[in-house]
Order: sequence, then C-alpha cells, then structure tokens
Amino acid sequence: MAKNRVTAKVNGDSVEFLCETGQTLLEVLRDELHLTGTKEGCGTGDCGACSVTVDGRLTCSCLMLGVEAEGKSIQTIEGMATGEKLHPLQQKFLEHAALQCGVCTPGMLVAAKSLLERNPNPTEEEVRYGLAGNLCRCTGYHKIVEAVLDAAREMRGA
Ligand code: FES
Ligand code: FES
Repeated sequence: MAKNRVTAKVNGDSVEFLCETGQTLLEVLRDELHLTGTKEGCGTGDCGACSVTVDGRLTCSCLMLGVEAEGKSIQTIEGMATGEKLHPLQQKFLEHAALQCGVCTPGMLVAAKSLLERNPNPTEEEVRYGLAGNLCRCTGYHKIVEAVLDAAREMRGA
C-alpha cells in the first residue's frame, strides 16, 4: 500500500516522513523519526507514557494517527532540555528523586510541562489532577508532585 507523506514540526524542526495510514503518531515518532523517548505503555490511552503535545495540547500519541500530524507542531520529551541545560522540571525531578522508570517518566515530564504552561501556580491538588492521566504501577506519586510544585516556584521566580 502506498505510504502517506506528512510534513510537520517536531521540537521546532521541520520534518517530513512517510507513514502507513494506520500507523499511530507514537509509532511514527519512535520508528520513523527515531525519537524513542516517547514510550508505549498501554497503547490504549490509559497510562500517559506516550504523552506529547500537539499544537500545545497534551495528547496521547498512541491514540493519534501519524497522518493527523500533517501541519501540526509536536513537542516530545527530546525537546524539553535546551542543549545541555535541563528544563527546571527535569532538574527538580532529579533533586527530589522523583525519577522513576524510563517508561513513565518522560510522559510525566511532558504532562507536567503542559500543566505549568496552562497554570504556572498550581495547588497540590491541581498538580495531582494534572498528572492523573500518567500512571506508574510501581510507586507513589508524592515526590513527583513535590518536584512539580518546586519547579513551578522556580519558574515563577518565587
Ligand atoms: S501508551 Fe498511550 S496512553 Fe498508554
Ligand atoms: S511505571 Fe515507571 S516507575 Fe512505575
């Protein structure tokens, strides 16, 4: 079957790729663009491991087709740091030992960044609600919430 040619922006760079009509954006990111920071947990929109933003909206890339990325701007975990400089959220995850496994952490960070862009001064409850779509099957969420609140304080200059 003929593949579809798609042009989009990924982490600020213009990209062009070919994809099958049924290929998800998650598959395109990982298999065609080799951006393997975005993970597959459930594949059904339940775990948040595949979180990216599409035109600024937090999106489960396992639920979106690659062809739907045409003309869109996508941000993945690979676009979060600026060169060697970590994003404040990444730094605070390190400082608070909020890092968990490589499957859930990228999605947590992408979702937290999206939350702070919408709400720079969230309450603890709002952070918990904002990350409710990101599941970890192993541990608690307390350190993650602390890290996000601390990053929010730093980003506000408080
Ligand atoms: S892999 Fe997409 S929500 Fe779980
Ligand atoms: S799923 Fe990543 S640490 Fe539990």
